[in-house]
Amino acid sequence: MPAYALLGAQWGDEGKGKIIDYLAQEADIVARFSGGNNAGHSVWNEYGKFSFHLIPCGVFSPQTTNLIGNGVVVNPDVLLGEIADLKDRSGIDISERLVVSEHAHLIMPYHIVLDRLAEEALGSGAIGTTGMGVGPAYSDKAARRGFRAADLLDLESLLPRLDTVLQHTNAVITKVYGGTEVPLDEVFEKCRRWAEGLAPLIGPVERIANRALEAGRHVLLEGAQGALLDLDHGTYPYVTSSNPTVGGACVGVGIQPRYVTSVIGVFKAYCTRVGAGPMPTELDDETGERIRELAQEFGTTTGRPRRVGWFDAVAARYSAQINGYTSAVLTRLDVLDGFDSVKVCTAYDLDGETITEFPGAVAALARCKPILEELPGWDSPTASTTELDSLPPRARAYVDHLQELIGCPFDLISTGPYRHETIKARAIIEV
Ligand code: GDP
Ligand code: IMO
Ligand code: MG
Repeated sequence: MPAYALLGAQWGDEGKGKIIDYLAQEADIVARFSGGNNAGHSVWNEYGKFSFHLIPCGVFSPQTTNLIGNGVVVNPDVLLGEIADLKDRSGIDISERLVVSEHAHLIMPYHIVLDRLAEEALGSGAIGTTGMGVGPAYSDKAARRGFRAADLLDLESLLPRLDTVLQHTNAVITKVYGGTEVPLDEVFEKCRRWAEGLAPLIGPVERIANRALEAGRHVLLEGAQGALLDLDHGTYPYVTSSNPTVGGACVGVGIQPRYVTSVIGVFKAYCTRVGAGPMPTELDDETGERIRELAQEFGTTTGRPRRVGWFDAVAARYSAQINGYTSAVLTRLDVLDGFDSVKVCTAYDLDGETITEFPGAVAALARCKPILEELPGWDSPTASTTELDSLPPRARAYVDHLQELIGCPFDLISTGPYRHETIKARAIIEV
């Protein structure tokens, strides 16, 4: 009956895609539960380098059924394009084992327009969104103006509602932002085309997931984004518009919380952030530039350079507290190979006072200066290592120190982007 929630433990891009692909070998179901195509999850294998924005990363394990839960906002153009691209490049026809929740909301063309206009209006206070229409789609969902996948199966009922919603939305676009109206017939025509492509994939994800769990199957819940981008618990307003934390995993697929026996937090060996908002350990110097270049820290979805900083244990402990990790995973350890020393932030200086708890107010977080510990670097590489005992002793000491600070052991340590470049310290999925 176990469900395993795999969550980004920092600001996203922790390497969740690689770890989902690894764990999916032992899973029956892999389900996305939050976010939309703001996510970019990389999987590297013999077919090439894939960046999945909507398709769950279990697709390369042939026994998996892949679900897109009600908590995800779906741009059908992106999803259908991704399905076709996967087939072209790998021969895998995922449409045979992919189900999109009838309750998943759609990202409409006007959501993308609104995302851009809202960001432009914020000027220097912009969030730095991915521009994919994700925030406006969730806003409409909460305002009960949204359209769900199942609505595409009844276009006759959809049309009059779309007309009403679009009158409101076009008033906002033109009168608030001075933008250009989005025509009803264009949006409706898109819905008609989406209906053709998506209809065979739409299904009752809640029922499929709960029945599988009742039958003792292994369900892997694929988180997007990260705890510090959570709408409630993150660095608001510099957050995404959904809950990438453990509660979101249950709500976003509709499974009973009692099934979640494992909560897996994925941490990068340092920190990155894309977009605006405070990041206390940010390195605005040569070291930051070196890590960014070495690790090619550029957004999977937008190509933007990611902000880079040392591992932030204050933020990590906060993320662990909210999610209650039963397992942790460390990724990209190899990126720190070759550094003379590495640093870890264990406390903040806030207006002259040392604090060890993550501040609740974003303005306070923005004033925090990191208090850093320096650890010696290691002189032989960790890249591609697959055995814990083969790690250079100083790399091992860094790993041990991080897990002590987080308060949760690393069951997996990733030493490269490929599936086999993984150290398995303990099994996460018991088969
Ligand atoms: P996600 O959004 O959490 O799935 O992460 P992204 O795919 O956006 O970014 C993580 C990047 O790190 C991708 O380019 C991965 O291929 C890569 N990656 C994952 N694990 C490792 C690792 O252990 N070492 C290295 N060098 N790269 C990794
Ligand atoms: P994965 O799943 C990193 C960030 C954006 C922006 C903020 C709001 O690949 O880890 P949005 O478009 O969601 O309204 O943007 O959230 N963001 C991510 N950053 N990884 C992601 O996903 C992200 N998804 C959203 O950069 O700061
Ligand atoms: Mg990503």
